[in-house]
Amino acid sequence: MIRHKEVLRSRFLCTPLVKMWATLSVLLVILPKIINSDPAVDFYKKVINENVAKVENYKLPKNNAEFINGSQATEIKDFGGYDFIIIGAGSAGSVLATRLSENENFKILLLEAGGDENDFSTIPSMWVNLQMSNINWGYLTTPQKNCCLGMKNRQCLEPRGKAIGGSSTINAIAYVRGNPEDYNKWDRLGNPGWSYKEVLPYFLKSENSQVDGDPGFHGKGGLWNIQYSLPPSELFSNFLQANKELGLEALDYNGYRQIGASKSQTNIKRGKRQSTGTAFLSYARERRNLNVITKTLVTEIIIDKKYKTAEGVVFIKDDQKFRANANLEVIVSAGAINSPQLLMLSGIGPKEHLEGIGIDLIADLPVGKNLLEHPMFPGLAFRTNYTVFAESLNEQIKSFLKGKGPLSTAVEAVAFMAGPDNIPSIEYIFMPQTGTPSAFDMFNFNQELENTYLAKINSTTDFNIFVVLLHQKSKGEIRLKSKDPIDFPEIDLNLFEKQEDVDTLIEGINFVIKLTKAQAFQDINATLIDIPICQEYEKYSKSFWNCAIRHMSMTMYHPCGTTAMGPNSTTAVVDNQLRVYGIEKLRVVDAGVMPSTVSGHLNAPTIMIAEKISDVIKATYN
Ligand SMILES: Cc1cc2nc3c(=O)[nH]c(=O)nc-3n(C[C@H](O)[C@H](O)[C@H](O)COP(=O)(O)OP(=O)(O)OC[C@H]3O[C@@H](n4cnc5c(N)ncnc54)[C@H](O)[C@@H]3O)c2cc1C
Ligand SMILES: *[C@@H]1O[C@H](CO)[C@@H](O)[C@H](O)[C@H]1NC(C)=O
Ligand SMILES: *[C@@H]1O[C@H](CO)[C@@H](O)[C@H](O)[C@H]1NC(C)=O
Ligand SMILES: *[C@@H]1O[C@H](CO)[C@@H](O)[C@H](O)[C@H]1NC(C)=O
Ligand SMILES: *[C@@H]1O[C@H](CO)[C@@H](O)[C@H](O)[C@H]1NC(C)=O
Ligand SMILES: *[C@@H]1O[C@H](CO)[C@@H](O)[C@H](O)[C@H]1NC(C)=O
Repeated sequence: MIRHKEVLRSRFLCTPLVKMWATLSVLLVILPKIINSDPAVDFYKKVINENVAKVENYKLPKNNAEFINGSQATEIKDFGGYDFIIIGAGSAGSVLATRLSENENFKILLLEAGGDENDFSTIPSMWVNLQMSNINWGYLTTPQKNCCLGMKNRQCLEPRGKAIGGSSTINAIAYVRGNPEDYNKWDRLGNPGWSYKEVLPYFLKSENSQVDGDPGFHGKGGLWNIQYSLPPSELFSNFLQANKELGLEALDYNGYRQIGASKSQTNIKRGKRQSTGTAFLSYARERRNLNVITKTLVTEIIIDKKYKTAEGVVFIKDDQKFRANANLEVIVSAGAINSPQLLMLSGIGPKEHLEGIGIDLIADLPVGKNLLEHPMFPGLAFRTNYTVFAESLNEQIKSFLKGKGPLSTAVEAVAFMAGPDNIPSIEYIFMPQTGTPSAFDMFNFNQELENTYLAKINSTTDFNIFVVLLHQKSKGEIRLKSKDPIDFPEIDLNLFEKQEDVDTLIEGINFVIKLTKAQAFQDINATLIDIPICQEYEKYSKSFWNCAIRHMSMTMYHPCGTTAMGPNSTTAVVDNQLRVYGIEKLRVVDAGVMPSTVSGHLNAPTIMIAEKISDVIKATYN
């Protein structure tokens, strides 16, 4: 406006043409405000409405059918040679490709099954909707015996990102590293170099932190922006205050201490998602020594059987088959589900299983074993007498364009309950009411749970607290369904095989219920919403919770451990530099290498792993 005033005051004021121009430009600025149409708002409104509508009818795929024609091609075309071939542009792969391509002498090929990120995936609050789209691989677990009993066909969901950025493109953007002792344990398990003191610099390296956290624990000037989503929800202070009443102070959970409660530190920049594609790879993608190919399924790592050396990969692109050769290394960063699948398809895995499937064994390693997750109980919803005021979508988009508001938020607050040795045993996650109907139907709950439970939840009055088991004792497994790379792998979660895991989760549930009895929550009359299952047990008895947990629990989508790092190849797949035992020129770098899981969320640790190994690789070949 000021500019136009200046124009009007100018000495050209009298010429009719200028007068007309001035009036016109004033109108151009004012008019859209009068008819209330801001092109940017309209754009995002269209993006959100179109994509949310698609979710309704989306059917999860059953296999990799989009690559089926290519898999039947008989000719394998030569794609040339590279120093490094990285499989998967996810959290780890995007960071590796960015760091390795800093060395101009390295020629790098990065192969990604999915396509690019899109405008919808940059909106943090849409993370749940992304699971019902083609940027999720769309995995379901095998029908389960001890868990997921209340899910359709007893199958839990196990979403995985299928796009540049991988799972960091569909995740809930919480930045939670875990406890120093988690990493000290990796070191103690026989993995020198992975103690907290040694990995902390790599956490700091990636970070551009806007969080006013504990000094020495946060990086500035890195590629990856970390900040709080703002403003806090209306009930955030109730959550903090209730914790305080129980002796859990507000703190920086990525700092000195972890047992306490806090607003969650998130991967956003100006309100938009900071996937590893956006934060890292976008800087490297134009480099001439890096070739990024999307919509490409790697189906095999080519291994010389005599010399046990990785030579290259076979992949499908545009209905054709190609072979690329690796001069220095093949690096598998396909994630904790797909990396074991690809290794097994290539002859690296448990002898009996591969022979049973009809795959020639090259290395007998415990690939796919030791699957760890973070089991999560989503059944604690509370009715309040506080009704949240939900802004219109237009208003929400306006805030989003200013970098704040509900569209820029996914997880409001996290807190940790102490377990043995002061390592947290339970995390509880505060999900306040949003005022817009929640996407909770994506739990895969069966019809009964949907009708009797989900239907009761009111998004303007009810909040959830998710209870997470951080260190499960039960282990699952990834196996192959067949030797056909078009088939999905089999994911057997096997949660709660060990009763101890259920018992710890019950402690967490009881703690959270106690939390909601604190004054700060009683002020809004927080009351547990009835869970109408397991009626044969006395309500809220131990056996009731045991039953409810086995029916309703899902996971945080944190699979790891399936290509574990360790000193002994009877129980581990890679050594402490993430080199596959018994095979030259082959590394696995992703969440699968974690030998034990962390008291946090897996994205930041996975990125730390990629940062650290990038330095190891650079030092090796310099
Ligand atoms: C819905 C959801 C919510 C989550 N929320 C959080 C959170 O809030 N905070 C947090 O810290 N963590 C969260 N996580 C977990 C975290 O995002 C993952 O642990 C992390 O991204 C894993 O990184 P990765 O590199 O191991 O695998 P990924 O990021 O999954 O990368 C693997 C990549 O390889 C590609 N690929 C796989 N197979 C092939 C093949 N054969 N050929 C070519 N390409 C292939 C995939 O398409 C993918 O891009 C969440 C995960 C999900 C799914
Ligand atoms: C495979 O090829 C057939 C015949 O050309 C075509 O009709 C079909 O759509 C293709 N399938 C895929 C998944 O591309
Ligand atoms: C949800 O709660 C609000 C506030 O009490 C009420 O106005 C609304 O009708 C409720 N919605 C449903 C679907 O029950
Ligand atoms: C508190 O919640 C209970 C259970 O929903 C309800 O019966 C009661 O009327 C509420 N009290 C107030 C003061 O809102
Ligand atoms: C909500 O319920 C509490 C009692 O639990 C009561 O003290 C408070 O006044 C109620 N608030 C409203 C807005 O009704
Ligand atoms: C690895 O573990 C196996 C089984 O526990 C044991 O027999 C073997 O000696 C170990 N090897 C090394 C090198 O420690």
